[in-house]
Amino acid sequence: MSSCHKAYITTPIYYVNDIAHIGHAYTTIIADTLARYSRMSGLDTFFLTGTDEHGQKIEEAAKARGKSTQEYADEISATFKNLWDEFDISYDKFIRTTDEDHMRGVQKAFLKMFNNGDIYKDTYKGHYCISCETFFPEIQLVDGEFCPECGKPTSVVEEESYFFKLSKYQDKLLEWYNNNPDCILPRSKRNEVIRFVEGGLTDLSITRTSFDWGVKLPEEINDPKHVMYVWLDALMNYVTALGYGNDEAKMDFWPARVHLIGKDILRFHAIYWPAFLMSLDLPMPKHIAAHGWWTRDGEKMSKSKGNVVNPKEVADAYGLDNFRYFMLREVPFGGDGDFSQKALIDRINSDLGNDLGNLLNRLIGMSGKYFDGKVESGKVATYYQTELDEVNESLQKLEPLLFEMQIHRYLEELWRPLSVANKAIDKYQPWALMKEGREEEAMALNGLIANILAKVSIMLSPVMPKVCAKIAKALNFEIDHENWQKLFKEKALIANFTLEKIDPLFPRIEAPLLAQAEPADKPAKEEKKKKEKKVETKETEGVALIGIDQFFQTSLKVGTVVEAQEVPKSKKLLLLQVDLGEEKPRQIVAGIKEWYSAEDMLNTQVCVVANLKPAKLMGMLSEGMLLAAKDEDGLCMIRPEKPKKPGTPIG
Ligand code: MSP
Repeated sequence: MSSCHKAYITTPIYYVNDIAHIGHAYTTIIADTLARYSRMSGLDTFFLTGTDEHGQKIEEAAKARGKSTQEYADEISATFKNLWDEFDISYDKFIRTTDEDHMRGVQKAFLKMFNNGDIYKDTYKGHYCISCETFFPEIQLVDGEFCPECGKPTSVVEEESYFFKLSKYQDKLLEWYNNNPDCILPRSKRNEVIRFVEGGLTDLSITRTSFDWGVKLPEEINDPKHVMYVWLDALMNYVTALGYGNDEAKMDFWPARVHLIGKDILRFHAIYWPAFLMSLDLPMPKHIAAHGWWTRDGEKMSKSKGNVVNPKEVADAYGLDNFRYFMLREVPFGGDGDFSQKALIDRINSDLGNDLGNLLNRLIGMSGKYFDGKVESGKVATYYQTELDEVNESLQKLEPLLFEMQIHRYLEELWRPLSVANKAIDKYQPWALMKEGREEEAMALNGLIANILAKVSIMLSPVMPKVCAKIAKALNFEIDHENWQKLFKEKALIANFTLEKIDPLFPRIEAPLLAQAEPADKPAKEEKKKKEKKVETKETEGVALIGIDQFFQTSLKVGTVVEAQEVPKSKKLLLLQVDLGEEKPRQIVAGIKEWYSAEDMLNTQVCVVANLKPAKLMGMLSEGMLLAAKDEDGLCMIRPEKPKKPGTPIG
């Protein structure tokens, strides 16, 4: 099994019912970043991605296009693989659930679970959502019919099925969550899972008889009309990719260092998957890390709205590395994020252009003008030890941030050395030093800047591999394990060299480079707006009177703040996760930091406007608003007089 010198990193395997969009690219790019860092730091790394090709949804998508299911799966699977190749994603294996050895591995696992008494046969009656490939109890359906996850109609299914004894693992799962505080990241998501499991687990139907497109049961069970539930088949990919049930040579990579997933598939990964592993007597993964959801310009992406962000178009227009940086820097891991060209352009012009690109330009300019491009490190420590210490201090904070999935903070911290460098130029003014004949100090200053750029580009390279390779080339060194060890771990300085001039890395972008998505429902919206205007209102003392119906259009609810943190760089904002009795807490960005600290807010009750259209504040999605009263003495929260259950309506 995996030693601490091995790192196994996975993405979810993507359904082949559609082509890749920004959400898929996001997961894959985070995983790629971790894999690149692991390799650079000397870990024996195995990075897995692939496609999930079985199930009713795929069968129906193929039918709708008049193709055989295999032909259709081949086609879409290839579009994912090609995109990842174009994006230079450094995967070690691209698995397909239609691979023979995967299917054999799944059958072996099924048989093992069956033989150890964890699988039994019964009849299933329930509401099935094909889109989510999930059964839902009636009580969870919206209006008794619609899927609580995606809103599509469910169908009633009654069929013979094999069941996995999930209920048997309830206590063992809770023990695992409790003994491993970081098994699910961010930690707030672990609390959600614990609450769900404490609510009771029922056994899981793991076979279907109403369609064919799936892995057959093992021959030994001799029940050919059943195929396996797509999630059992899919989750097993994480071990069949290492040869489980076949040639198990690579199984020493197990357990996974991290399974990267989106928050929508947390339940499958944090409950079903560990339970399957327990049944198979395999160790638990180290981390399951769930990221948030991307929207576009504040709206949910959907094909019908025509606003789906195509990652290839964005990368082609703005540069792949810039796009990677944007996605990882813009959103705190676990929170929801919004894609807008404006936000992307701001990041490119400001963080990348002003802070990083200009620093390199300044170095090229100064060393060219005063020293024929020569840069020396010899006297850096003599004149600029304080700056070096500050830089090293920041750099030492980085590694834990990466492996705790605080990738936005990793990048934020990585920008501090750049700011040290830019400030040093302004403070010591190399042109003045030269005028005063203090050449040695000016050369040392150039050395300081070059070393900061070298160290930053090593640590930034997992996020922006191509750009950092260019910076390294200009500074005449290579980004590899040896230099990571020397410049980062041992805090050494680069050798003397002559700077190679390169073109500006981040030319300024003045206007959006892609056509803006026009919401498909724009005419309907305008019509609605007009109607809203017509609503008659009476005025008293300048306040419009509304009818009771209008008041009830606002959904006010009691919520409990289950997580609270400060928004870095913001004087006003706190980032809260508020439990409204829904499946997941809402993310709310509240402008209350002047009056309340994160600690003040944690575990308190608040009143929330729950049906506001989500809005974006400093790149973070806010899914509600807190009620507060403000006068000249300041602001205070409006709270229920006595504790109320989260989600209790107000009105
Ligand atoms: N096939 C399953 C996963 C099986 S893993 C054993 C699946 N596939 S998916 O193609 O629907 O989604 C794959 C990933 O893309 C999920 O992690 C999901 O969260 C992510 N995203 C899909 N849409 C997204 C956004 N709009 N934003 C962010 N990520 C989203 O689920």
